Amino acid sequence: MSVSIVVGAQWGDEGKGKIIDVLSASADMVLRYQGGANAGHTVYIGQKKYVLHLIPSGILRPGVVCVIGGGVVLDPEAFKAEIDVLHDAGIQTQGRLLISPRTHIILPYHKKLDQCSEDQKGRQKIGTTGRGIGPAYVDKYNRAGLRAIDLLNEAIREERIRENLKLKNFIIEKYYNEEPLDESLILQQAAAHAELIRPYIAETIERVDTALRGKRSILVEGAQGALLDIDYGSYPFVTSSHPVAGGAFIGSGLGVVPDAEVIGVAKAYLTRVGNGPFPTELNDATGTLLRDRGGEYGATTGRPRRCGWLDLVALRYSARINGLTQIALTKVDVLDGMDRLKVATAYTLDGHELDTFPADPEEQKRIQPVYKTLEGWNDSTASDSISALPRQAREYIAYMEDYLKIPVKIVSTGQRRDQILFA
Ligand code: IMP
Repeated sequence: MSVSIVVGAQWGDEGKGKIIDVLSASADMVLRYQGGANAGHTVYIGQKKYVLHLIPSGILRPGVVCVIGGGVVLDPEAFKAEIDVLHDAGIQTQGRLLISPRTHIILPYHKKLDQCSEDQKGRQKIGTTGRGIGPAYVDKYNRAGLRAIDLLNEAIREERIRENLKLKNFIIEKYYNEEPLDESLILQQAAAHAELIRPYIAETIERVDTALRGKRSILVEGAQGALLDIDYGSYPFVTSSHPVAGGAFIGSGLGVVPDAEVIGVAKAYLTRVGNGPFPTELNDATGTLLRDRGGEYGATTGRPRRCGWLDLVALRYSARINGLTQIALTKVDVLDGMDRLKVATAYTLDGHELDTFPADPEEQKRIQPVYKTLEGWNDSTASDSISALPRQAREYIAYMEDYLKIPVKIVSTGQRRDQILFA
């Protein structure tokens, strides 16, 4: 048996899509366990770019079975758009893409409430993707959600949507002063969505168990990043699910797999999209340089990403909350040609030194990074092995490994599938 959980080790957008795509070449099954169409996993195959939001990136490898687990919140409209793109590209989905009957469904009122809440004056904006993620998880935990299996049952579907919409429309109209949503339109769309997803719904628990017992190779695909985790991230500037590796065991239905490999994908520098603390953010020419070179614009919303230096304190915190066993370091090539590189090794707060990411949001805002400056490299990182990387790049990696006490086993040096090195 081999189970590898691939998680974002920072604030998302670490390049998980590419790592999953490369690793899924030898996988039998890829499972997605949390989040929804707020994610954007970009994969380049030759010149063609695929951006997947909901469907596991493993779908791009023929023969790999992909599972959307019960921990995901599925937007049928986003799902339709994605399968249309895949089918147009000649990629078959039926029979190899399974949706757990327990997956919760995102409805139009979730997206409306997400947008209303973000637009509300006087409220501190989270900077969500507007995809209805938070409100859908609220309904799930409030036991008012509609799951994929419920969507298929006309009586349950209609009753629950009607019941929910009464309260949602009350809030939309009376609290947000917006137009209420049309019940009959939502019911009609939901009926069509039921038929769309019906062929994909399968008892994934059994399929996953069979794969585990058959010692198949299973890859578990995280979305977002550990620092956006609802419990351990920079709350309230977080997403509403558990991107950390522990979430994989629940959200995929795998159960605890004690010897799973936990691969933390980390960018060689740092980015964040949306609001919230970012101690190593660079609001200067270096930040702009990183954004331009790294193409740092959100795959889902197109928003420019905030850029900064690698934060080892936050990454060590992430390693702890995930139980990382190895790191996949991405976008190392973006640093090519930079004279000096800084990495945060501690924070200072009111004259004290901190060596972990604080829980207090006020402290998160005020902490100042303590930097170690490392030598940059002029040569290109385009290499065929880690040992052939420029000396300074190897030293940068060795410094990370020594600080984190975790090996960097994968290094990505470009967008293409072949631009990847294994230790
Ligand atoms: P939500 O997940 O749309 O509710 O957004 C909550 C926070 O998570 C915002 O700061 C988003 O920008 C961020 N976020 C959500 N999904 C992603 C992602 O896939 N990559 C990076 N940030 C994300």
